[in-house]
Amino acid sequence: MTTVNLQIDLGGLIMKNPVTVASGTFGYGAEYADYFDVSRLGAVTVKSLSLEPRSGNPPPRIVETPAGMLNAIGLQNVGIDVYLKEKLPYLREKKCVIIANIYGSSPDDYAALAQRLEAEGGADAIEANLSCPNVHDAQQTRGGSLVAQHPEQVVRYTEAVKAATTLPVFIKLSPNVADITAPALAAQEAGADAVSLINTLIGMAIDTETRKPRLSNIVGGLSGPAIRPVALKMVWDAARALRIPVLAMGGIMCADDAIQFLLAGARAVAVGCASFRRPDAAIKTAQGIELYCRKHGIADINELIGAVEIS
Ligand SMILES: Cc1cc2nc3c(=O)[nH]c(=O)nc-3n(C[C@H](O)[C@H](O)[C@H](O)COP(=O)(O)O)c2cc1C
Repeated sequence: MTTVNLQIDLGGLIMKNPVTVASGTFGYGAEYADYFDVSRLGAVTVKSLSLEPRSGNPPPRIVETPAGMLNAIGLQNVGIDVYLKEKLPYLREKKCVIIANIYGSSPDDYAALAQRLEAEGGADAIEANLSCPNVHDAQQTRGGSLVAQHPEQVVRYTEAVKAATTLPVFIKLSPNVADITAPALAAQEAGADAVSLINTLIGMAIDTETRKPRLSNIVGGLSGPAIRPVALKMVWDAARALRIPVLAMGGIMCADDAIQFLLAGARAVAVGCASFRRPDAAIKTAQGIELYCRKHGIADINELIGAVEIS
């Protein structure tokens, strides 16, 4: 059987296959070591890292929904120091390609994180999660807007990260906008090397017995198969509008789902909360993409990217 070239170039990050995992659904990699060799993934994307450790929101912070889940984890993470000291050695020892997702409350926070990650060999690419509260929004304490909802702020944050590192910079955007191409074009204009689409869709659930919201945070982010058609459409829109590549995520459960995103124009895909249901979902997705290519006589995965046929 002929071999298939699965290697892709995601904004300067070379991945041996187009499959990574979505930030926050795969810990720091070692958590999944019992299920498969995580270095077989195109890259491992780690949980959002902040300058200081964060304990996140109080429970309950996860609710099951039809075809998905709502989460309000609140960006709990070990912080950059513990990541570099305790989590990174495993990923480096395994020779994983690392996408470090970062989160802060100002452009300076993002710049500081990116600078440290590069200086200490903590990442091969940076993914800046801009689904963070917009500090210029007076409403923010009552569930105000996100940075990713304001193209002019996407420019400020992206420029700050780009100025702080020579690593490829991916800007992770929110689907909670009317037109995804506006923040995506803003990221491109500010020098982003790729955009990551999509983060979770904001939603809520109410317990009818107690009449209280089912999440302590009241609202949370919807992920899983329920959001896949929305994500696919946004990836398709963004891929047509941009010169830079798209890293796609949102409800990818298997290879067929991932291939839809590649056909829609994504250069790479990330498996998210599917790993909670099947810990080997990401590697099975990569294997399934290879099988699909063989079956369809595709010698190079790059032939598939954007190849949706629309008459
Ligand atoms: C439990 C959970 C935690 C998450 N944490 C983060 C995070 O720390 N940073 C981030 O950028 N996205 C985070 N996300 C969003 C995912 O990376 C992804 O964008 C989203 O879940 C859509 O993919 P999926 O439907 O395949 O899960 C989280 C999602 C879930 C379900």
